[in-house]
Amino acid sequence: MTETLPAQERGTAQGRAVDHDVFRQALAVHAAGVVVITAQSEGVPVGLTATSFSSVSLDPPLVSFYVDQASTTWPWLRTADHFAVNILAGDQAEVASRFARKGVDRFAEPTRWRPGPLGAPLLQDVSAHLVCLPYETFTVGDHVLVVGLVAEAEVHKPGRPLLYHQGRFGRFIPHP
Ligand SMILES: Cc1cc2nc3c(=O)[nH]c(=O)nc-3n(C[C@H](O)[C@H](O)[C@H](O)COP(=O)(O)O)c2cc1C
Repeated sequence: MTETLPAQERGTAQGRAVDHDVFRQALAVHAAGVVVITAQSEGVPVGLTATSFSSVSLDPPLVSFYVDQASTTWPWLRTADHFAVNILAGDQAEVASRFARKGVDRFAEPTRWRPGPLGAPLLQDVSAHLVCLPYETFTVGDHVLVVGLVAEAEVHKPGRPLLYHQGRFGRFIPHP
């Protein structure tokens, strides 16, 4: 891959795009770790479950995630001066479901959390937390790519991550 597609050729390329259902089926085969992105926006805790989290750069330390432009959490998240990435542990499927559900107070009981060092909510019992400062955002298709500079990181339970695969949550089983 040497070049990006010029803007005037993207329409033609979209005509060759894969069938929507086949695309979704192929992506579902890709197992992913699960995080909850949290922030404090105008004094209100906000957060959403994401599998699009990725490491980006070691120096400077950058991470990223993609958020749907249609997300009702995004307008709150985008105004926050920092955000936290809560990397979920294998026994936190309920937390992941809760932070993907609409019409519930995601931070009400039984969610367990505390304000982090800069104010963004940190979920309890996660594998690790990263506290990030906004670094870049790019609109890509129907999502926004959010890149964060990691200001603080804390590892609690490096052992068993929560995974998402074929529409289901599960755990990682290492080879013996
Ligand atoms: C396993 C899983 C992974 C998800 N990953 C993402 C993601 O990477 N980006 C995103 O915008 N939404 C993702 N979602 C959807 C959001 O968690 C949430 O359902 C959506 O943002 C709707 O809520 P909102 O309108 O309050 O934001 C995911 C949902 C699930 C269950």
